[in-house]
Amino acid sequence: MTTDLSFFDRVRRIVQARLAGADGCHDWDHTERVCRNAELLLREFPDADAEVVRLAALLHDVGRPDEKADGRVCHARRGAELTEEILTELRMEPGKIKKTVAAVRTHRYRDDTVPASLEAEIVYDADKLDSLGAVGIGRAFLFAGKFGARLHNTEKEALESAAYSPEDTAYREYLVKLRKLPGAMRTLPGKRLACERVRFMQEFFDRLNAETAAG
Ligand code: ADP
Ligand code: NI
Repeated sequence: MTTDLSFFDRVRRIVQARLAGADGCHDWDHTERVCRNAELLLREFPDADAEVVRLAALLHDVGRPDEKADGRVCHARRGAELTEEILTELRMEPGKIKKTVAAVRTHRYRDDTVPASLEAEIVYDADKLDSLGAVGIGRAFLFAGKFGARLHNTEKEALESAAYSPEDTAYREYLVKLRKLPGAMRTLPGKRLACERVRFMQEFFDRLNAETAAG
């Protein structure tokens, strides 16, 4: 007897298999949290195409395993290619494939693509929210740990250090990207949540600075 999986469940299985063994910063748990964030935002946008948002949230990091440890190979570009292949194979309607692919392609902060539809904006914000708050702190430390990074450094040291190096720290990531995310959010509810989460992170790093201050 064959199991009749829904379209969405078939995509979910493909993504889950691709992300098996991924590091804790970008694993299947991250994708699940992004899907939950997307649901939260969808409630505020009843006119958005929920199917496209759900699929793009699910597929947004499908290209991640192909990104090299030092950031070479853009996972959003690779993810867009894979999304097109997967959804074409599953015979999704071409117009919806196009919208889903575009949302996956534009979900990154660190590139020059811009989310060009409401659906792509929701996916972008859902992903960025998972870089913030307590989860965001944990993920930044997990990521930095992969490169043998230090626990912490001063603002001056952090701003002079290179990403993907032993001098990299979670604090550097916070200073160069995470604290700026409220200004980069694409939806109003996303921005509101981002502001609240960054306030908590600032409190955390203020305390880390105080606890590690010399003298
Ligand atoms: P984006 O282009 O959206 O910034 P990335 O894949 O570069 O996407 O980063 C995704 C997440 O991975 C970041 O939000 C952060 O949690 C973590 N991360 C990436 N680079 C670093 C780094 N150098 N130090 C700490 N965390 C990082
Ligand atoms: Ni991503």
